[in-house]
This record gives sequence, C-alpha cells and structure tokens, in this order.
Amino acid sequence: MRIVLVGPPGAGKGTQAAFLAKNLSIPHISTGDLFRANISQNTELGQRAKAFMDAGDLVPDEITIGMAKDRMEQPDAANGFLLDGFPRNVSQAEALDAMLTDAGMKLDAVLDLEVEEDEVVKRIAGRRICRNDSAHVFHVSYAPPKTDGVCDTCGGELYQRGDDSEGTVRNRLEVYHTQTEPIIDYYKAQGLLRTISALGDVQDVTQRAMDALKK
Ligand code: AP5
Ligand code: MG
Repeated sequence: MRIVLVGPPGAGKGTQAAFLAKNLSIPHISTGDLFRANISQNTELGQRAKAFMDAGDLVPDEITIGMAKDRMEQPDAANGFLLDGFPRNVSQAEALDAMLTDAGMKLDAVLDLEVEEDEVVKRIAGRRICRNDSAHVFHVSYAPPKTDGVCDTCGGELYQRGDDSEGTVRNRLEVYHTQTEPIIDYYKAQGLLRTISALGDVQDVTQRAMDALKK
C-alpha cells in the first residue's frame, strides 16, 4: 500500500506511523525525521533545512521534494510506503502525483488524523524524543518512558525538540492551516481521503486507522 498521513503537528502521525508501518509491512518515511537526522549528522541538506525548521516554517520545496523522492526510490519502498509529513502543501502533492505516475504507481489512501488544537498543544508540550532516532517518541504523562529521560527502545537520551517551544508551535499550527490543510481538499477530490479521530488511546487510534484503510 502507498499511504499518506496528514494531521496537525502533535496529532500523533509519528506515533501511529510506527504501528501502521509494522502492521502493513511497509517503511515509515517521515520527512521531519529525515531532516532531523541530516541536522544531527551536520550534512549540507541539514544545514540548509535547520533555520526553517527552527522557525516552524516549511523547508523549501526544492530541498524537500528531492529528499523525499530519493527516500521513496530506496528498494525497501518498492512495494509501498507510509508517508508522514509529506506532502505538506499542494505543490508537493502535485510533485508526488507526478513522481508516482512516472513510475506507473498511485496512492491508495490518505489518512487524516483529526484532533482539536488544545489537545495537540498538550501533546507537543509533553513530548520527548530520542537523540539517536527522532522516531522514538514519548510523552511525559501520556506515554512516559520506563526510566526518566531514557529511551525504552534503544537507551538513548530523551530531549525536547527545539521547535516544540510555545512560539514556534503557534507558527507551525498557522503554517498547517494555511499551507497543509488545502491538501485535504486536493485528496478528497481524488476520492482518497479517510478521516478518523485521533483522540483516545494510541491502540484505539491504530485500530480506527486500520479499519479506515481496509474500507
Ligand atoms: P515534523 O517532524 O513532521 O513535525 P509535525 O508535522 O509538526 O508533526 P509532529 O512530529 O510535531 O507531530 P506528530 O503528528 O508526529 O505527533 P507525535 O506522534 O510525535 O516536521 C518538523 C518540521 O520539519 C516542519 O515544521 C518543517 O519545518 C519540516 N518539514 C517536515 N516535512 C516537511 C515537508 N514535507 N515540507 C517542508 N518542510 C517539512 O505525537 C505527539 C505527542 O503526543 C507525543 O509525545 C506522543 O507520545 C503523544 N501522543 C501521540 N498519540 C497520542 C494519543 N493517542 N494520546 C495521548 N498522547 C499521544
Ligand atoms: Mg512527527
């Protein structure tokens, strides 16, 4: 399956993607995680992306689309993938369509995680992620690690993302409403959109997502 996950910052895209990717045996491709890995390895791409991410703005399309394409062309993604955080505006969605059409492929579904704003603010405020891999995600009260400050998965140090500060989160939400939400109508028009509530236990949300994807 080729699936796109959409939803506001803090909706639980990364959290759900980990379970969905495992259930569906497809790789989880997060452009945010790819950017953070590039920043921690101090690559040229990371250096170009950093200021945009720190401000909570979108990284320009000419950087993002090439990076996403390179990842989707890796052998593990030949039979499907779960995209988390890409596309994030209509021009990225159009670029993805063009890429897939060229390869004789198409998307199967776009899963939209719905959560109200005060809940995403709480989720982001308590989030802690792992230095080794930003896909290892915890929350101080909703999903606490067994040992304070230590990743359950790999033992890495947990920290708070720089762009999870209050002012930056406000801008990320604004960017989501103005630039990313329009892709919801774009995919609705293609008949691909499946909207679910992302409230409640993580496992319940995963079940809702699996049910929506089976339809
Ligand atoms: P990115 O890393 O994609 O950030 P985001 O979209 O803002 O989303 P988040 O990672 O903040 O939230 P999430 O939905 O994954 O939630 P999570 O599962 O962690 O992007 C970062 C930046 O990179 C962007 O601002 C931009 O600069 C750049 N970028 C990335 N892609 C780009 C693109 N395509 N184009 C341009 N720029 C791009 O969950 C949040 C918290 O809630 C966690 O603590 C979790 O434990 C908790 N939680 C999850 N589910 C539940 C639940 N059901 N109940 C209670 N708590 C829960
Ligand atoms: Mg994420």
